[in-house]
Amino acid sequence: MALSQILVALALSSAAALTRSPMRMSATATPTHVTTKSDAIMAEAKTVMPGGVSSPVRAFKYVDYVGTWGPAICGHANDEVNEALVECLKKGTSFGAPSANENVLAKMVIDAVPSVEMVRFTNSGTEACMGMLRLVRAYTGREKVIKFEGCYHGHADGFLVQAGSGVATLGLPDSPGVPAGATQGTLVAEYNNLESVEALFADHEVAAVVLEPVVGNSGFIPPSKEFLEGIRALTEKNGALLVFDEVMTGFRISYGGAQQHFGVTPDVTTMGKVIGGGLPVGAYGGKKEIMEMVAPAGPMYQAGTLSGNPLAMTAGIKTLEILSRPGQYEKLAALTEKLVEGVLAEGKAAGHAICGGSISGMFGFFFCDGPVANFQEATASDTDKFARWHRAMLERGVYLAPSQYEAGFMSLAHTEEDVEKTIAAAKEVFAII
Ligand SMILES: Cc1ncc(COP(=O)(O)O)c(C=O)c1O
Repeated sequence: MALSQILVALALSSAAALTRSPMRMSATATPTHVTTKSDAIMAEAKTVMPGGVSSPVRAFKYVDYVGTWGPAICGHANDEVNEALVECLKKGTSFGAPSANENVLAKMVIDAVPSVEMVRFTNSGTEACMGMLRLVRAYTGREKVIKFEGCYHGHADGFLVQAGSGVATLGLPDSPGVPAGATQGTLVAEYNNLESVEALFADHEVAAVVLEPVVGNSGFIPPSKEFLEGIRALTEKNGALLVFDEVMTGFRISYGGAQQHFGVTPDVTTMGKVIGGGLPVGAYGGKKEIMEMVAPAGPMYQAGTLSGNPLAMTAGIKTLEILSRPGQYEKLAALTEKLVEGVLAEGKAAGHAICGGSISGMFGFFFCDGPVANFQEATASDTDKFARWHRAMLERGVYLAPSQYEAGFMSLAHTEEDVEKTIAAAKEVFAII
């Protein structure tokens, strides 16, 4: 089954979208996709859920490069994952007691991710980041944490400091409902700018530096190797912990995550998305000495009723098993490079300012000359043009993330043909936007 041509429901936060029923149309060179039925469903959804969604941006069927925002690395409804889930389902979904499957997934994560000697499972990336935040403070006895403009670490109060505005550097919350006190311990530095981190270290005792080792939440922004190595050295020098938030990059950039790709090992790592194989899972892990702070081994409390439940563990185990087979990451990288090179070439040939890049199965484009190294530079992108690009691609059966500030994801279910169709659609769209 061409799993990248999926039956997913697409709902854009602003443009009314979606339906979960299939709109089986193929990607062709002219607009073929309409949203009449989606519009009706979205109109009803708005009367029963805030904004009509369960998460601010959600989604439908098409050549899908959103992949449920990263987890669907094996494609949707992967037969092997589904079969494992059905077997597991027959036995029960949750028991509130340890299960052998938790050990299996834990050992797979420990074997794969260089920094992880012990792991705690949670139900989402947000929860993993919340646990990690408490852990780094408990371990160091310090409160301040440095994050970066444009990096997202879930919706916990302490991390909701807006990137890219003046208030960011003051550590003010960017969402109503977040008490000012909750973000007082959050300091904000500029991505790919070591001096901005050094300046914060000069003025504060810092528990940890937390970053997306490849940014996906301001669009796709890779780090320079010197930046990652520099932060590693600065944290060591200042007695702070280094945390890679690999919720997006874990098991995507490589089997061992961004830390394996770049050869820089943090003290603590957060994970999610791919390790849950499409079910709700998060995890944080690190050196044993640090992780043994976590209850019940240590005094730092963190728990979850459904954490490590058999279904989620099963989906994660099967997904990692599939990913560990020879050639999988080479396939993801080759398809993604072909896509990015093809789209950039068509964009430039049509006279657009456009830049972009990829690492393994993660990619992105900006409508500016680039290169883009941080959130401020990402804001130079022409977002009106991006909106026209996104809509026109969607009308041609290609589902890209509906925001300039999101990364794209390739899956093992995508084919050369999908990528060629996408490039052909892009060529047509570049001529009209
Ligand atoms: C880097 C990163 N950290 C944390 C999160 C939060 O994860 P979740 O949406 O599973 O709560 C995300 C979600 O996109 C993310 O990209």
